[in-house]
Amino acid sequence: MSTPNSPTLDKHSSALDAAEASASHLITVTLRIRRFNPEVSDHAEWVDYQLPIDPKERVLDALHKIKWEIDGTLTFRRSCAHGVCGSDAVRINGRNRLACKTLIKDINPEKPITVEPIKGLTVLKDLVVDMDPFFQAYRDVMPFLITKGNEPTRERLQSAEDRERFDDTTKCILCAACTSSCPVFWNDGQYFGPAAIVNAHRFIFDSRDEGGEQRLEILNDKDGVWRCRTTFNCTDACPRGIEVTKAIQEVKRALITRRF
Ligand code: SF4
Ligand code: FES
Repeated sequence: MSTPNSPTLDKHSSALDAAEASASHLITVTLRIRRFNPEVSDHAEWVDYQLPIDPKERVLDALHKIKWEIDGTLTFRRSCAHGVCGSDAVRINGRNRLACKTLIKDINPEKPITVEPIKGLTVLKDLVVDMDPFFQAYRDVMPFLITKGNEPTRERLQSAEDRERFDDTTKCILCAACTSSCPVFWNDGQYFGPAAIVNAHRFIFDSRDEGGEQRLEILNDKDGVWRCRTTFNCTDACPRGIEVTKAIQEVKRALITRRF
């Protein structure tokens, strides 16, 4: 049996202290979420949720808390929860971000935090948009290695400098934060959009690839790179820090010079 000073009791009281200390860090935040359920109404509305949360937690944690403890009908996408899969891009306080990479403390929790779906794609329910047009544009630029001739008997070699040429655009996680922050895309969903161009860039500038001319012709289309108005929204929105506008400019230059 434990005595008042036994190690077992000490362990329990330190666990209680830790729980109390962590509870004392909680603040109350209001998440103002744009909700839409086509089975109930034909228009969206803002709904406020108040919840206690550690400011060091992320907006995704707050969405989970709401879904699991307050309103199970809230619908959103997420998978990895660590900035890798690209499935939880949403507009937070009017700016495209990944919910899993946005800390509550970094977005002024003293005011209601607005969370709404990314723009320019049809909203299916709450924060979930139809990504089909986005992925169709991605498929249209043929995001895979194209080569001619016979299969080599060993791997295709590339110098470190040649690999560096397209390193930035390999980082894309297809979250659509760039494309859905682009005013040209908002006005005309036919535009390929920054993400498709970034992924075309990744192969056009790969020294092992032989499909560059084909991809450039695809992007020379009226809905291709020339629609870009260089607003830099895409670069600002990219959670991977990719220089999206620069990549688009490089593709434009390659179209003019045919050197890549
Ligand atoms: S370029 Fe950046 S913002 Fe655009 S889809 Fe890729 S990771 Fe997302
Ligand atoms: S959940 Fe995968 S990137 Fe945020």
